[in-house]
Amino acid sequence: MQTPIPNLLTKFISNLIRKKNPDEFLEQSVKGGLKKTLTAFDLIILGISAIIGAGIFVMIGSAVIGTTERVGAGPALVISIGLVAVACIFPALCYAEFASMIPVSGSAYIYTFATMGEFAAWMMGWVLMLEYAIGTIAVASSWTGYLVKLFEGFPVLPEILRNPPIWLVNDYKTAVETVPDSALPHFLGIPVCFNLPAMFIIAVIGMILLKGIQESANFAKIMVFVKVTIISLFIIVGAFYVRPENWTPFAPYGVKGILMGAFAIFYAYIGFDAISTAAEETKNPQKNLPIGLIGSLIICSLIYCFVTIVLTGMMPMSSIDLKAPIAHAMNFVGQGWFAGAISIGALAGLTSVLLVLQYGTTRILYAMARDGFLPSVMKKVHPKFNTPWVITVLSTILIMIGSLFINMQVAAELAIFGTFTSFVIVCIGILILRKTQPDRPRPFKVPCCPWFPVIGIVFCSGLMFVALREVKTSATLFPLWLIIGVVIYFSYGYQSNRKQQALKLQKVEEQVEEAKLTHLN
Ligand code: ALA
Repeated sequence: MQTPIPNLLTKFISNLIRKKNPDEFLEQSVKGGLKKTLTAFDLIILGISAIIGAGIFVMIGSAVIGTTERVGAGPALVISIGLVAVACIFPALCYAEFASMIPVSGSAYIYTFATMGEFAAWMMGWVLMLEYAIGTIAVASSWTGYLVKLFEGFPVLPEILRNPPIWLVNDYKTAVETVPDSALPHFLGIPVCFNLPAMFIIAVIGMILLKGIQESANFAKIMVFVKVTIISLFIIVGAFYVRPENWTPFAPYGVKGILMGAFAIFYAYIGFDAISTAAEETKNPQKNLPIGLIGSLIICSLIYCFVTIVLTGMMPMSSIDLKAPIAHAMNFVGQGWFAGAISIGALAGLTSVLLVLQYGTTRILYAMARDGFLPSVMKKVHPKFNTPWVITVLSTILIMIGSLFINMQVAAELAIFGTFTSFVIVCIGILILRKTQPDRPRPFKVPCCPWFPVIGIVFCSGLMFVALREVKTSATLFPLWLIIGVVIYFSYGYQSNRKQQALKLQKVEEQVEEAKLTHLN
């Protein structure tokens, strides 16, 4: 006879690895009531909206020349981009297989629940918040930077807009790195410092999302059009100023530089997986999701390669700017008028990235709320707009609060770690599901399985490993974030899931009883 302790332990462990059948998610999504309106074209737009942003407008500078913590790739960044594209294409194929099989809101979180169980799913959702919610903070901070840059160029604007005080356009950490704490205004002894433009744009996007995805998709189309036009113009105009001698030395820091460049430019790829969070609102997801994922990845990779080739050819590496490299390149070749246009394109680009990241945040949290990880009030869908309004409002407020404290660089690196982790887990998930449910219909299948998922795992974890040794602050904060996730799960999520399970069981029993009575009568 078994003693109670091993029994309890077995039950506890089986709860942790309790998997959800993909059919359950599909059933829930039908009940959930989100509208199915998105086409393959909408998804490609959504992908480009998410992908092209701070990475190409800001981080490309540090990816080429490096920072105090890590070396850069030089003109060989074009090779780094190829590496990152390869590192992303395999997880993208895995996302496409999963999303076509389980076309519901929630992305990698759902896939983990179906393959690795409850605890892993919670942790995945928690890690995805790094990519989406914390990533939003990094992009919103870059948005502030470009807004300030744009206003600087208009002498007619009031002084406060052209040259805003430090405490009005920075998080606290960045502000005290620039001026001492005593130089900031204080209220009741607390330093007053907030990134007002970042908070403003986060709130505006939150309101747009509250109204609904179709409206958001239209808004994204305009933003994508503006940023792609500006970048294309940069490539065409810049090509006339390319001097091939600027491409020598091609890889000044060798392989290490190329790998570090890949880490830095990886930021520019974050967000394409957001397409899969829209699965539940997509028409014919089996066909449209793979097209959206792979299509947007290929288009953006080509754009990035051209921008890199032109930028590094326009000036010697030492002259590339860190804050606004593309606008600066135009100034460098005497085309100052174009720098203002680039700032507008960057603002549009960053706005559309914000839209997708905030959208992803709400849909993943919505899926987690439906599964009982979050209080049930959070799964409320607005009767008129058909959007998860409680989560949208709450997450918008929390991200705004986060932007008060979290520095842009740290937020970006945390987002990168979160994304790497989710890519690796999605690839592992595909391997598991192919074993455990080989006969499940797969409208789209990753070719050359298991090799493609395995290559995805090797590439992403390899890049993460190289980076972990270089970037100190985020390499410490990332494990801390994971620990906080574990604590929240065991203090709330675990119990709340048990209650949800008990309620479900009770419902099933009641239905069985009812059926028996009907049969007897
Ligand atoms: N890929 C997005 C960007 O570059 C996050 O801003």
